[in-house]
Amino acid sequence: MLARVATFAIDGVEPLLVTVEVDIRPGLPAFTVVGLGDAAVREARERVRAAVLNSGFAFPQQRITANLAPASLRKIGPGFDAAIALAVLAASGQMPAGFVAGVAVFGELSLSGELRPLPGALAVAEGARAHGIPRLIVPRARGPEAALVDGLEVAAVESLRAVVDAATGRRLPEPPDPAAPDPFGGGPDLADVRGHPLALLGLEVAAAGRHNLLLEGPPGTGKTMLARRLGSILPPLSRAEAIAVTRIHSIAGIGTGGLISQRPFRAPHHTISAAGLVGGGSHPRPGEATLAHHGVLFLDELAEFSRPALEALRQPLEDGYVTIVRGQRVTVFPTDVMLVAATNPCPCGYAGARERRCECGEADRMRYRRRLSGPLLDRIDLMVDVQRPAESDLASPPRTSSAEVRGRVTEARERAQARGGCGLRLTSGARAAIRTAYEAGALSPRGRARVRSVAETIADLEGHAAIEEADLLLALGLRRRSGTEAVPA
Ligand SMILES: Nc1ncnc2c1ncn2[C@@H]1O[C@H](COP(=O)(O)OP(=O)(O)O)[C@@H](O)[C@H]1O
Ligand SMILES: [Mg+2]
Repeated sequence: MLARVATFAIDGVEPLLVTVEVDIRPGLPAFTVVGLGDAAVREARERVRAAVLNSGFAFPQQRITANLAPASLRKIGPGFDAAIALAVLAASGQMPAGFVAGVAVFGELSLSGELRPLPGALAVAEGARAHGIPRLIVPRARGPEAALVDGLEVAAVESLRAVVDAATGRRLPEPPDPAAPDPFGGGPDLADVRGHPLALLGLEVAAAGRHNLLLEGPPGTGKTMLARRLGSILPPLSRAEAIAVTRIHSIAGIGTGGLISQRPFRAPHHTISAAGLVGGGSHPRPGEATLAHHGVLFLDELAEFSRPALEALRQPLEDGYVTIVRGQRVTVFPTDVMLVAATNPCPCGYAGARERRCECGEADRMRYRRRLSGPLLDRIDLMVDVQRPAESDLASPPRTSSAEVRGRVTEARERAQARGGCGLRLTSGARAAIRTAYEAGALSPRGRARVRSVAETIADLEGHAAIEEADLLLALGLRRRSGTEAVPA
């Protein structure tokens, strides 16, 4: 007899429908699993056999063939166990085969018949809904995550027995409560920062306009401190964004079990590889840029990152996604991030500093500069010089707080959104200022477009109805690096 059960494979961060077909016919006892599975899928035979027997069912002493369709898709990991077991039970008449039509099941089996949790249940739930499968059975611990998806009946169970009961509808467990939003962590606050009016403004403009930002200056002046506070001034994730982020983190196995409501902030070490940054591997896994999706990717000590890693990041920053090609397969990962980077201006860190002379030779300084200016810099709209604050600044009270800045950022974003993609007009003064800068050779056409876009964000923060000359001049000022004139981007 033949039975079919639906389950899902995760390809990148997308759920793909996999149909497990089990055929049982007379012959010498054998159990074969076909359909491009990896070692874990081949080993499913042993787990399924033991789980079926230890759950009090009979394991058919016949020729059993399980096919995981489509055969062209590589199947990785133990997530197909439960679907194979259910199809074996249906094909051997131990449960009515008709019942398995409207269910999908996702989980690994232990030898004792326990249903074990696996990463990626939220993606699987979205797949089930997209394919119009009304009921999804998942391991108990993953119920809240799967229940985030509306319009789907989720049964969260602990054993193969319970999977069968839920599939036949004989005994349905209480539906799980959807995962609650993670408590707001707060994180460090801008009120800790002394001095740095320009850098604070740079952070605010970056947050309001989703511009990429570079903080440059000598060591110990607060660059890392500033960058780590960017998350605290960004508006919270929308529900759709929260679900997208939760799904990615669940697949990567770094989920909290709750609904992630704070924007991700990822700060990979500078020794990271290109694959670690943008994703890769023989079975492509998401990289840091994808784990930072809808949030912030922070590259501290930017000049220390390998050239290939920075090169790899270039296109994803521009497009908002990265495409990984492995043989015949193409995997797409979302990478809609804000980039914030910090760096010293030269190997010793003091080029352009007031308090100390730079000890680097001219050649070293140039080499460092080239390393920075290569692959990524033309993707960065804001470059702020972070110099040592004055003693009086260190002693003065905080200039602002994250809550205050976040309020202004949210308003500016709302103004931009209300315009629905239409740009703001330039006043004649602003037009003259950008023409002057362009004709002086300080801007490339790309740089010119970026200055305009930053000026527009500043106008939105100010509530201006058009981009004024002051907005434009400030935008030009926020592209200057220490020890250099305006950046030829
Ligand atoms: N402007 C500042 N206001 C308050 N504390 C500061 C400031 N700059 C530096 N610090 C203190 O110095 C520490 C080191 O700063 P950090 O951000 O790591 O410097 P950088 O990344 O520029 O080398 C911070 O954790 C903070 O305690
Ligand atoms: Mg630092």
